[in-house]
Parts: sequence; structure tokens; C-alpha cells
Amino acid sequence: MATLYERLGGQEAIAKVVDYFYDRILADDQVNHYFKNTDMNKQRRHQALFITYATGGPNQYPGLDMKKAHEGMGISDKDFDAIVNHLAAALKHFDVDDETIQEVAASLEPLRKDIVEKPSYATS
Ligand code: HEM
Repeated sequence: MATLYERLGGQEAIAKVVDYFYDRILADDQVNHYFKNTDMNKQRRHQALFITYATGGPNQYPGLDMKKAHEGMGISDKDFDAIVNHLAAALKHFDVDDETIQEVAASLEPLRKDIVEKPSYATS
């Protein structure tokens, strides 16, 4: 069975998706303010390597763990959902099928507890 990483098309395909994903994020006033002091070249590179690893590809991610990377930003559940939705839309733009998109979203869901500091949904 191919890994999710392989089904997405590997590192090059993921890098394209991530570029488009951040174009969308930077155009979205709900979340773009978080990135106003961010080096977006580094961000795109690190995110592509993180998603590579999170979907079963090689571990070459050089950055902070998710809790440290987002500490003190006051990210809400709605922001988290917005970011996952931008990723889903970016995958769709590159013709990834809905089932695979769901799997990518599910693979990121466990990170919610490390990233969100202003929970607004009940969790079980
Ligand atoms: C869907 C889950 C998410 C994943 C997988 C993720 C992943 C990452 C990664 C890999 C980095 C780079 C850390 C480093 O280079 O050390 C990062 C940084 C960052 N993330 Fe996220 N993130 C997520 C959700 C969010 C959300 C919801 C927001 C805000 C709306 C956000 C805002 C940021 C910002 C602003 C930075 C850059 C901080 C800086 O300038 O150094 N992230 N994230």
C-alpha cells in the first residue's frame, strides 16, 4: 500500500501544493495577520518538509515542534479550521481526490491540541 506521501506525488508535488496553500492564506484576512513578520520562503520550505513527514515521507523536517512553533500566538479552533480548509482547497486545486484530502486533514487533526490556545469547541 502506497503511503499518503506517495499518493500525493512526493516532495515536488507537495512543494507546489504548499506554495499555493500560502498564497491562499496570505490572501485571507482571518489568518494572514499571523504571518506578517514571517519569512515566507523558510515557512514554505519547512511546511513542505513537515507535511512530507506527517504523511509518511522521509523525515527531513528541521524546524520546531508544533507546540513551540505556535506558542503565544493565541490561535483559535476557527483559525485551525481555516488553515486546514486552505490546505484542502490547495490539494483540490491540484486534482487530489476527496478521500485523500480527508486523509491529509485527519493526519493533521491530532496537532490541534498543540496548536490551538483558544479552544472554542467542546472536545471529548
Ligand atoms: C494545520 C495545522 C498546522 C501545521 C501542520 C502547521 C505547521 C507549521 C510549521 C511546520 C511551521 C514552521 C515552524 C518552524 O519553522 O520551526 C509553522 C509555523 C507557523 N505557523 Fe503553523 N501550522 C499549522 C497551523 C497553523 C495555524 C492555524 C496558524 C495560524 C492561523 C499557524 C501559523 C503559523 C505561523 C505564523 C508560523 C510562523 C512563525 C514564525 O514566523 O516563525 N499555523 N507552522
